[in-house]
Amino acid sequence: MNKPDFLYDRKGPWPQPSPSHPFGEAPAVVHIPKDEQRTWFWNIGFRYIRNVLFYWPKALWMAWKNPTWELIDDEVFCDQIYTTPLAKFLNPNIDDNLQEIFKDQLSKKDSDSTYFVADFSCMKDVVPFKGLYVASTVALMSKAKEESRLKLHAIYIFETKLLLLPEDGDAWYLAKNYAMMGATYRILLSTHPILHFPFDTVNAITKTSLPTSNTIFKLLYPHFQFTLTLNDSVLESSSSPVYNDQKYPFTGFCGPQEGLLTLLESGYAGIEGNSSYPKFKWDVYPTEVYSDYQVYLMEYYQAFKRFTDEVVKKIPANEIEDIKIWATYISQWLPGFPSGEKIMEGDLLSGCLAKIMWDLSVAHATDHHSYGTIPINRLPLRMRVPPPASKKDTFNPKDQAKKLDVFKYALEWKMFFNDYTVTHLVDVDYKFASAELQKVQANFLQDLELIDLHMPVKRYMDLKNISVSIQF
Ligand SMILES: [Fe+2]
Repeated sequence: MNKPDFLYDRKGPWPQPSPSHPFGEAPAVVHIPKDEQRTWFWNIGFRYIRNVLFYWPKALWMAWKNPTWELIDDEVFCDQIYTTPLAKFLNPNIDDNLQEIFKDQLSKKDSDSTYFVADFSCMKDVVPFKGLYVASTVALMSKAKEESRLKLHAIYIFETKLLLLPEDGDAWYLAKNYAMMGATYRILLSTHPILHFPFDTVNAITKTSLPTSNTIFKLLYPHFQFTLTLNDSVLESSSSPVYNDQKYPFTGFCGPQEGLLTLLESGYAGIEGNSSYPKFKWDVYPTEVYSDYQVYLMEYYQAFKRFTDEVVKKIPANEIEDIKIWATYISQWLPGFPSGEKIMEGDLLSGCLAKIMWDLSVAHATDHHSYGTIPINRLPLRMRVPPPASKKDTFNPKDQAKKLDVFKYALEWKMFFNDYTVTHLVDVDYKFASAELQKVQANFLQDLELIDLHMPVKRYMDLKNISVSIQF
């Protein structure tokens, strides 16, 4: 009998406690095969060098033209949350402490509307550089039943214990920019990273523990391209955005790494007693988003699920034992992932596979792309005016930022936040051995095309631009 082939001869990558935050962040993969590192560099790392060398004049021009943060009207504020991935922050569970803060507004509740908090208290441990300010905020919003837009009622600033309302003039505008700054940090460093880092465990364990002929290996492998090196460089490289070393021109965040890492922790370990920040637990279903984004994401998730349902039905019996071992390995690192004893129950395997493939392609790429449609001057990254301490506070909008702040942000946006697809989901080839499974693959790709064509809500990203894996 032939010995099964393993990609790295069973000596491949494996998860371990995160070196920077062993107890607060997802397990990390730090020993990455050299050929994966090289492929990443020529396809992605090299682009960063190109951007630094050639994009800076454009970033400088953007900062010159518009050197501060825009003052945004309530309607723009609401639209910016409702029509982008920032809608992930809408939480209909209003915890007791927030019920108390917003008691006047909630006592006048409109019975036809759902009320949400958008909680940016994760900013509490971010320490700013000298001359910069940070505030943790929470916004109260609502949505009428038949409407596709939000209403903004109030913003609370924890540091100054101040509740601001729409009639509060300058202080209200300042509060909105602090809340939007919280939203920017939360999406970039707390919520979006959940789409990245927990999946490194699945990536490494699949590559190392499954024979390359296993159907699950074939199904997942194309979705792992470039990602281990990308994620490791985000977390561990001294030139990464999270390290935020000010000697580099693309480091726009407001403070040193230690504070920024607390945001990653709030996304994975959660914040005790705060329902907006649950601790990470594996779930086959995507987390619910209270906007049209939910419809967009679920349309694709269901297509992945239809595909994995068909594939799982065709897995040969002699591959099952390896799949159970694979699931057990993952369950030891990812809380809630079904172990080998459970994975073959019901449609659990299919659900897990759909979630993995959907997350690494559609969910991740669209998060970047849709965020990238918001003008950067509406997403403050550094504030040079302190948060309002009274309702009468005034400020000069120009003092909010310096040209350098906008310049660094514009360059960082181009390099790391904007989407830049190298290999596309629509070109995926699972290289299945059987004609039967090749047909299932063809049906899946057709299904994706139909979803893109008939998307019942806004097409947050064109299918043709969606990457097959996490590559930005
Ligand atoms: Fe990303």
